Amino acid sequence: MFETKILGRDDKSVEYAAELLKRGEVVGIPTETVYGLGANAFDENAVRKIFEAKGRPADNPLIVHISELSQIEELVTEIPRLAISCAEKFWAGPLTMIMPKSPRIPMATSGGLDTVGIRMPSDETARKIISACGFPIAAPSANLSGSPSPTSAQHVFNDMNGRIPAIVDGGYCCVGVESTVISFEGRDGIRLLRPGFISVEDLKEVTENVLIDKGVLAMLDENAAVSSPGMKYKHYAPKAEITLIEGNSEQFRNFVKENGNDKTTLMIFEDSDSAGLDFSAVCYGKTSEEQAHKLFDVLRELDNMGAHQVYARCPAKNGVGLAVYNRLLRAAAFRVIKL
Ligand code: TXA
Ligand code: MG
Repeated sequence: MFETKILGRDDKSVEYAAELLKRGEVVGIPTETVYGLGANAFDENAVRKIFEAKGRPADNPLIVHISELSQIEELVTEIPRLAISCAEKFWAGPLTMIMPKSPRIPMATSGGLDTVGIRMPSDETARKIISACGFPIAAPSANLSGSPSPTSAQHVFNDMNGRIPAIVDGGYCCVGVESTVISFEGRDGIRLLRPGFISVEDLKEVTENVLIDKGVLAMLDENAAVSSPGMKYKHYAPKAEITLIEGNSEQFRNFVKENGNDKTTLMIFEDSDSAGLDFSAVCYGKTSEEQAHKLFDVLRELDNMGAHQVYARCPAKNGVGLAVYNRLLRAAAFRVIKL
């Protein structure tokens, strides 16, 4: 087996990464949200290599990343009015917008759909790589299918070593959860398909008419019609059995005292949540922003610790908290106990 190279983010490394991408290879690239597994969005064969490296079902579409607004024209047949307002307000940044795709995007990239998700990342290294390529980059999160999304080059290496030629190390991702994904309904409506750092509250500054898709908070039937294929797949599945415990710090401690055993690990906001308790514990932060930033690293840490059964304090559900809750809910296979 060959070893995947970890590159820096200097100009020479960016140039080398772009060379690989131009040759139809797959490269791990940093973004402000999570690391992506990038390839030329126009090149069917290159895109197939992404699905292979990840073990991703072929009907789950990829997000297409651009570095300049002008690139969008070639990718879509129509730009909804609200998409322009959203681009002005939130790009470059962690927002993906679904639009009707042009024939330039191969079906392999769009997972057979006639729409395409587009995003302009704010991460400087990502933008440099896209610009150096001269074509848009299709990229899902750079984890193996079913693993937590990677927020460091080391996470990508752990999942992808020997599967892709190189990873560009852009440091730890500042946001930490994947982009907000939206589609448009009629002239004035936005449908939220996946919550992220751009929150419902943020979107409401563009239109009051923001609908949260039922797949965001509910477990969907395997055969249900879904608005976004990613919703139906089991996601972010750590090895441990996680249960979300909804209640305040004191209620949480009492619950753990009564129900914990020698196999229990705690996933808490801060040390005081486990005061007086004798369990191993990991903290994932007090604010929603901090929790988003740390979440996937903590989920990987729980696996490394060999945690069997985890009681996690339930995050807030507003602002960025909704994104943290949405990811944790899936990691917990929708097990929630309300105290
Ligand atoms: O922050 C992010 O979005 C990261 C970085 C690398 O940009 N990418 C990412 O990609 O999270 P991925 O493939 O792991 O998640 C994309 C989600 C999937 O749930 C997919 O089903 C949905 O977006 N999606 C993509 N294109 C779509 C489309 N045309 N219609 C509906 N859903 C779409
Ligand atoms: Mg993903």
